[in-house]
Amino acid sequence: MALVLDTDLADIQTYVQGTPNHLFAQLRRECPVYWNERVDGGPGMWCITKYADIAAIGRDPKRFTSTRGVNITRIPEEMAEVYAQSLLIFMDAPRHTRLRGLVNSTFTPKRAVAMQPLIRKYTSRAIDAVIGAGECDLFHVAASPPIATICALLGVPDEDHGRVLDWTNRTFGQEDPEYAAGPDDTAAAFSEVFGYALQLAADRRQDPRDDLMSELAHAEIDGEPITDMELSYLFFLFLTAGNDTTRTLILNAVNILLATGVWDELGADVSLIPNAVEEVLRLEPSVRGMGRTAIEDVTVRDVTIKAGDHLYMWYCSGNRDEDVFADPDRLDPRRPNASKHQSFGGGGPHFCSGAALARTQATIVIEELLSRMSDLELAGDPVRARATQFASFKHMPVRFSPGPKIVGQT
Ligand code: HEM
Repeated sequence: MALVLDTDLADIQTYVQGTPNHLFAQLRRECPVYWNERVDGGPGMWCITKYADIAAIGRDPKRFTSTRGVNITRIPEEMAEVYAQSLLIFMDAPRHTRLRGLVNSTFTPKRAVAMQPLIRKYTSRAIDAVIGAGECDLFHVAASPPIATICALLGVPDEDHGRVLDWTNRTFGQEDPEYAAGPDDTAAAFSEVFGYALQLAADRRQDPRDDLMSELAHAEIDGEPITDMELSYLFFLFLTAGNDTTRTLILNAVNILLATGVWDELGADVSLIPNAVEEVLRLEPSVRGMGRTAIEDVTVRDVTIKAGDHLYMWYCSGNRDEDVFADPDRLDPRRPNASKHQSFGGGGPHFCSGAALARTQATIVIEELLSRMSDLELAGDPVRARATQFASFKHMPVRFSPGPKIVGQT
């Protein structure tokens, strides 16, 4: 008989205490391609939980489309076509290939590397703001450098950082009532970001500078400028996706490194930090998974996924697949294949454009925290945001020995 869990993996309640890793371990063992029914009667989905299947599906866009949505729930039919025309992450080839080519040529690894000194400066500034107090909500320290970095890259001025945080929370954090007052509020946040993007683009067409928006505002594909919708959504994706996921990575890192005692190990040998960041990404991915829809009937293992069925690739499960990672639940900063995790996608054309930047930022922030708050400890229970797809924290009370500010020395 087919396995039936008494838990709906699309239900927000399932994630109140974090990712239910024991359920994913059961699925990998007993039913790696699992049909999940919704408690609310909504459309079900296939749950893909093995590393190899996730990698194969992510690399097979001819049979698994992104155009019907990449979230846990499928987007309504009437919106699918508009999204697929203009939203990078919901596109298939050939439009995706062309727009992604543009992203790859503007948002280059060289640009990410060049940001390193600035990232360190933004991190020092964020730590300076709290170091004298000996306690803080680490959320603000983790949120600030990714916002400052992406704003500097895009050309968004410093005085708008607060608005960027607000937009991020009301769109990415839309499932949490502390962040968004409901669907209308989220829709309003989207239109505010899009309006801002078009205004910034208009400014840069008049007065180009050395930033990403100047390049996007002048970009052409096959001799045609990209559409306003493509431009606004790219801006949104960089601005919010890049900062929400990165701050989550930083908070996950502190939480898990402290809980396992690896924090002290990194303090004694900072060369382990980059690989420890990979382990955090593996064990606690900021994005739990991504969806696709089958274009034709496809057999995965012994299960036939019918044309039109929605499926979800659970990166959090692939990352703990015993066939790929030995002793998968253990955080091992020396794990040789730690970076093989699927937290930036299982491979394929939609693989995260910001992976190098996110890795660099998390490494620098952990280095700085270890150097200036080596005795950091939790001062209360961290509070998770209510979310299914994104594993975010919204508060993390910590204490540490007070220290001096270093403004002006960086
Ligand atoms: C820890 C941080 C991050 C995580 C965990 C993350 C994760 C992901 C995932 C899972 C995808 C989809 C992969 C797929 O469907 O195969 C994605 C796509 C994307 N990410 Fe990230 N991301 C992070 C940071 C960033 C940053 C810093 C940026 C840019 C500044 C960024 C920009 C993008 C873009 C543009 C896409 C869409 C790519 C496409 O559709 O072709 N991400 N990311």
